[in-house]
Amino acid sequence: MQPVRKVVFPVNGLGTRFLPATKAMPKEMLPIVDKPLIQYAVEEAVAAGVKELIFVTGRNKRAIEDHFDAHPELERDLRTKGKFDLLEAVQNILPRDVRCIYIRQPEPLGLGHAVLCAEPAVGNSPFAVMLADDLIDAEHSAIGQLIEARRAAGGGSVIAVQDVAPEDTKKYGIVSVDDAAQATSRLRGIVEKPDPSVAPSRLAVIGRYVFEPEIFRYLAEVKPGVGGEIQLTDAIEASLEDVPSYAHRYSGTRFDCGSKQGFIDATVHYARKRGFRID
Ligand code: UTP
Repeated sequence: MQPVRKVVFPVNGLGTRFLPATKAMPKEMLPIVDKPLIQYAVEEAVAAGVKELIFVTGRNKRAIEDHFDAHPELERDLRTKGKFDLLEAVQNILPRDVRCIYIRQPEPLGLGHAVLCAEPAVGNSPFAVMLADDLIDAEHSAIGQLIEARRAAGGGSVIAVQDVAPEDTKKYGIVSVDDAAQATSRLRGIVEKPDPSVAPSRLAVIGRYVFEPEIFRYLAEVKPGVGGEIQLTDAIEASLEDVPSYAHRYSGTRFDCGSKQGFIDATVHYARKRGFRID
């Protein structure tokens, strides 16, 4: 079984919930305390042994490329001024054996379409997908937990899920599984945003996935779904017959930083962890 060494970061959403902040700046560059959301996600991937970071970008996303690139003038300035802590912080964002690839999504046609745009860089390998606006504080890298679940299952797709309150099933993709009591269970279906009365479980899909390359075949075939977008969940659903797929309940605390409330909760959480006073 091939190990997972590549991760795709779809970062081409419009980020409308954070306008006007995201008019000219990617949502993924919004900082929690002093680190952009995308860097938290990249660190989680690197901790899981990933070596290739594939960013699916578009207009207004140059800041992400610049962030993971060297900045010789800044480094020279910090060195001259003896600010070695800051120098370390900007120089060592990525280990030397990790490389970045940038692919453009010509138009934001949906998350599924963004993942499909990464196919030329992923090729015939298993890969992870991470949505940086789901920020997960975990003792062990959340995407690493999914990669381990795939290894234990002998391959297949693995999707991160978490328990949500019954009234919240309307906000998420909700999975049906063989045994919701297990941490990893065979995935049988996904329903988008069901009413609590018809939700098959209280397990909601979160922005961490591991896929076999077969998913591209299904992504290429799915028709635009909700909102005219190519939906990743539709491709997963279509692949369930052929690709063994699992839902994995990861351990960790997740913040929905795509929403203002989640972003503020994350800021308070990480600020406290870092010793800042919150009155
Ligand atoms: P969201 O549904 O959160 O959309 O996308 P958004 O545009 O980022 O934010 P809002 O809802 O307008 O505030 C989920 C993920 O899919 C990526 C986004 O960057 C985000 O990581 N995405 C979405 C793409 O890369 N391309 C797309 O066409 C759509």
